[in-house]
Parts: sequence; C-alpha cells; structure tokens
Amino acid sequence: MGYQDVYDSWTSDPEGFWMEQAQAIDWDQPPSKALFDRGDHLYEWFADGMVNTCWNAVDRHVEAGRGEQTAIIYDSPITHTKRWITYVELRNRVATLAGALRAKGVEKGDRVVIYMPMIPEALEAMLAAARLGAIHSVVFGGFASHELAVRIDDAKPKAIIAASCGMEPGRVVHYKPLLDGAIEAAAHKPDFCVIFQREQEVAELTPGRDVNWHGFQYGVEPADCVPVEGNHPAYILYTSGTTGQPKGVLRPTGGHLVALNWSMKNLYNVDPGDVFWAASDVGWVVGHSYICYAPLIHGNTTIVFEGKPVGTPDAGTFWRVISEHKVRSFFTAPTAFRAVRREDPNGDFIGKYDLSCLRAVYLAGERADPDTIQWAQDKLNVPVIDHWWQTETGWCIAGNPLGIEELPTKLGSPAKPMPGYDIRILDEAGHEVPAGTLGAIAIKLPLPPGTLPGLWNAEARFRKSYLEHFPGYYETGDAGMIDEDGYVYIMARTDDVINVAGHRLSTGGMEEVLASHPDVAECAVIGVSDQLKGQLPLGFLCLSSGVNRPHEEIVKECVKLVREQIGPVAAFKLACVVDRLPKTRSGKILRATMVKIADSEEFKTPATIDDPAILDEIRTALQGLGYAKA
Ligand code: COA
Ligand code: AMP
Repeated sequence: MGYQDVYDSWTSDPEGFWMEQAQAIDWDQPPSKALFDRGDHLYEWFADGMVNTCWNAVDRHVEAGRGEQTAIIYDSPITHTKRWITYVELRNRVATLAGALRAKGVEKGDRVVIYMPMIPEALEAMLAAARLGAIHSVVFGGFASHELAVRIDDAKPKAIIAASCGMEPGRVVHYKPLLDGAIEAAAHKPDFCVIFQREQEVAELTPGRDVNWHGFQYGVEPADCVPVEGNHPAYILYTSGTTGQPKGVLRPTGGHLVALNWSMKNLYNVDPGDVFWAASDVGWVVGHSYICYAPLIHGNTTIVFEGKPVGTPDAGTFWRVISEHKVRSFFTAPTAFRAVRREDPNGDFIGKYDLSCLRAVYLAGERADPDTIQWAQDKLNVPVIDHWWQTETGWCIAGNPLGIEELPTKLGSPAKPMPGYDIRILDEAGHEVPAGTLGAIAIKLPLPPGTLPGLWNAEARFRKSYLEHFPGYYETGDAGMIDEDGYVYIMARTDDVINVAGHRLSTGGMEEVLASHPDVAECAVIGVSDQLKGQLPLGFLCLSSGVNRPHEEIVKECVKLVREQIGPVAAFKLACVVDRLPKTRSGKILRATMVKIADSEEFKTPATIDDPAILDEIRTALQGLGYAKA
C-alpha cells in the first residue's frame, strides 16, 4: 500500500483503522471501540480499554525475549560518559523506583513533577510514574524557578523528582537552589522530593522533605504495572501560550501508545531492534515522544544524548554518535543543523565517520529552511524529511512517511497529512480557501489518537484557545497553505508564540516579566529573524515618567530579570528603550509591523495606526541593535 492507500483507508473507516493499529498494543482489557464522542466537540480514544504504558514500553519486551537488547544508550560528551541499559535492567530499575515512590504514597492519578537533565534517570522517572498510573509533568531544565513554581502550582504534584545538577557547556546548572526557590514560591508544596545526586555535584538535602534517589529505593518491594483506563492521562506537558501562564497539555494513555507505535515504522521507518535517535531534550514534546516513549514502545534502542550539536567537543558530534551507535533514523531541529553547518560548511567532519547505517534524517520543531535541508541532503546523502507537529498533537501532523512510501520532496513543505489528520486552510470567517491560498491551518475534529483531549484543569481555556474560533475544527495557531498536490506549507504563527532554536516561547510571558520591572511603564516583545536560532525575542521598554537612570542599566536589569524569571532558554538578550509604542487607535500594539521593520521587510502602514511617526522612532531604536538595516 502506498501513502494514498493508507490515508484513504483511514478516511473510509477511521474506527476500523485505529482499532487495527490498537492491536499492536498489549491491553489488559482491549477497548470495545476506538472513538468516544463526549459531545460538544470533545473526544476521547480507547477510553474503556485498560492498559499500562510502562508495561508496553518495557516489560513486554522482556517477556517477548528482548531483555538483553539495549533499551537506552546514554552518551554524554559533556561528562565524557557512556552507558548501555538493557530492557531487563530498565525493567528492574523502573520497578524498584516505582516501588519506592509507592512506598511513599504515590498512587494512580497523583502528579509527579520531574526536573532533570538528559540522563537515563529522567526516562526512568517518567516510566516509574507511568508504571503506577501516576501522571508525570517534566519541566525543561532551562526553565528557572518561577516557571517551575507556576507548573507546581498548576499540577499540584505529590512528589518532585530532580537531579542535583545539569551540565551546560562551560557551566554547571545548579538544580537544587532552583528547585528550592520554586517550592518556596509555589503555594502548593509537594509531600517529598527525590534528588538524584550526580557525580558532578552533590546537593545538600532539605531535611524532612528530600530523599536520596538511591537511599529511598533501598530494600523496597518492586512495583508491578497498574492498568489504567485508556483515557487516563499519561502525562501533562506545559507549553507556551499567549500569556505567562503555560498550558498543561494532557496526553491520554491509550491513544498515546497506539499513535506512537504506528509512527515508528510508518513514519520513521525503523523496526524493533533498530537504533533510533532524537537529539532533543526530555523537557520538550519531542523528548517525551521520541526519546522516551515511542522508541521503547516499539522495541527500539533510544539514545539519551547530553550534549550540543557544536562545541561538545566539535561539529562532528552528531556524526560520531550516529556512526558509533549505528543510528538508523535521526531526528533533530533545523537550528541544530544550522549550527553545525556554520562551523563546518563543507561537511569535513561528516567525511571522518562511517555513516552507512543512517537511512534518513527528520527535522521538526520549527520551519525547516530549504537551504538547510538541501545542505543536509547533499552532505549526508540520505532523505532529509521535514515534518510538522506540536506539543498539543504529540506526534506528526504532516510528514513524509518513509516506512510506507517516500513521497517526492517539495522544499519548504513537510509533505502530506498523516492518517487521522484532516487538514483545512480557513479564512478569518472559517471558510475554506482555494489551493495555494494562505490562511489559518485548522484540523477537522476529531483529532487522531495521541493528541490532546483537553488541558489540565482548564476546559474553558482549551475551548477558547483551540475550538471556539472555528467551530468543528482544532485551531493549530499556525498559518500556511495546501497546494494543488495536497502538500502542506507552514508559514507563521497566528499568535504571540515565537520559536527560538526550536524552543516554543511566549512573548506575552516575557512582557509580563518586563512589566514587573519598577521602571517599566509599558513594553512589547517581538520575535525577530535570526540566522541561527530562527527567531530571537526583542523587547521595547517605555519607562515610567520621572525615571532618568541610564537606559543601558535598565536594559541590563531587564535582561537579567527575564533570565531569572523564565530561564536562560528564553535567550532574551535584545532590548531597547523607546518613548512610545506604535498602536492602533483602539490601543492594540502593532507587533507584526514592528517585526517587519526589524526584519527589513516591506510593510504597509496600518490604516488604523494612531501616530505613524512612531514607526520611525522604532526603526531608529532597532537600528541601534543592528536590525532594520534597509
Ligand atoms: N538547562 C539549562 N540551561 C539550558 C538548557 C538546559 N537544559 N538548555 C539550554 N540552556 C541554556 C543555554 O545554555 C543557553 O544559555 P546561555 O544564554 O548562558 O548561553 C540558553 O539556555 C539558550 O539555549 P539555546 O537557545 O538552546 O542555545 P544554545 O546556545 O544552548 O544552543 C544551538 C544553540 C544553536 C546549538 C541550538 O541550535 C540547539 O541545539 N538547540 C536545541 C534544539 C532542540 O533540541 N530543540 C528542541 C525541539 S526538537
Ligand atoms: P512545539 O509545541 O514546541 O513542538 O512547537 C510547535 C510549533 O512549532 C508549531 O505550531 C509550529 O509553529 C512550529 N513547527 C513545528 N514543526 C514545524 C515544521 N516542520 N515546520 C514549520 N513549523 C514547525
């Protein structure tokens, strides 16, 4: 069957299609049907099946005789460490950790926040929670205390599992003070924290609250897998919206297992036993789906890579890992390839390694610029596949399913919709536009298995963010088009979300932080184009009257404030002081116009602008930062 046959087989019988895919999962009690329509545009998948994620990701492979296969390869050029963990070792480690969590009171439905770097123990913590039917919420290590506190208050975890430190090139990230600060700031307090002490830094435990990862597992009874309902949340993953309050995306257990398992062969073209590598971080959705769950569910070997594309130690790291561990399919963000290419434009490092094991490269997380794809294709001589998805969907919306058929590549397009996704391009009024016309990208409901059925404790926000604008559709927040051949093109976000080095960030969240500076009366943050990271945040600050301190000082404090409040990952380093912000007569800040000026693009002065002269002031300020050159 080719791509079109598979897609058509889903269209003609969605229920039958997904029930067939569900057979690849080990259910304690198989679901009676696939789709559960809850009314009012809410849907669930496999809701009455009983199943356990950890069983499917770990134990069943041991039972099936794959116990001695490597499940996880840990490769850390930052700490010069490599480790191999077999499926049987993983099963034993996870069962014991789950037993220790259970002994301290963690049960099905309890939340467990995980704040850990790229070490195998992060995956073990996720799997141990899943083993008990507890709901984990992993927080990316590049987020600071305030962001962690916001997530703690929303998820209300019974336990937090953290490492003593993370390792960034040239600096140790001290997790413990960040964790302590977050717990102090949060209104909700966890019952206990588990601290994994890394060799690089041993953190002092807080008496009465913290336990040692090794110590608290001593002598406990390993825990068996607890079957949960198909619609039971496997995890909550927070992602950026338009405000500083992140959205808690829910991932239900049954659909997650079925969709991820399907994707491994059909999209990523790997068979059980093959080595699959996603060079991301467990704190992001790519890490959840394709470092932890999908490869393990499918019986692959996954790689936990603690390093960067460049500088750890050089631009050949990716190729060294691929060749050494015999990676078959490799997944990363375009920004990582841009970083490698900048240091090694001719691909000299590539020539030093035997990459004959590599069959394809997959890019996602941000728009893949054709230049980067072409460079990678030329240098690596394998298909380089752009595919589009979001934290909300948990797996690919549009891509090129190499395991079914290699569709001809069209540069700039992540190819075609995956089964389960009926993608439409709509105008503002919700009418479909002709092929080749730009519009809002929407997906006809229901979304497929594995995608979000809602937000954690925020149904009204879920409806407002995704369902209300186009009734009967899920609003993706992306704009783009579909051409005559059915290829999808993703052009821009329709909201205030920006994408910095493949990391999704909220300009609204940064504005909230800047507005809290005592000298700032008003502010705006926009995303300006950046050759390496895709976009960078840039802030405009209007000062309160009577403030006459040096502007550089205030800018410096603001940059520091964002780093302290949101975290280094915000990469907020550009800001300037302006007298006024350009606004419409009704008071809306004209951010899109400022982006065009910054990127030296042509623009039309909006007819509704209050005072066009302000745009010149903005241009001058941007030129001072090296933007708005034309
Ligand atoms: N813990 C703590 N700090 C972190 C962190 C983590 N897990 N991850 C990143 N940071 C810090 C970085 O050290 C950097 O700090 P600095 O301002 O002191 O230099 C800051 O956050 C910005 O990080 P980032 O934007 O990732 O830049 P970088 O300099 O670390 O790396 C590239 C830049 C070009 C190498 C980048 O392309 C890259 O690899 N990005 C990751 C892509 C990715 O995995 N995306 C996920 C979706 S698939
Ligand atoms: P995240 O939720 O962090 O995965 O970010 C999702 C957003 O990243 C999408 O809504 C897009 O804006 C962008 N994105 C992800 N993959 C692609 C892609 N292949 N092409 C263009 N944009 C992408």
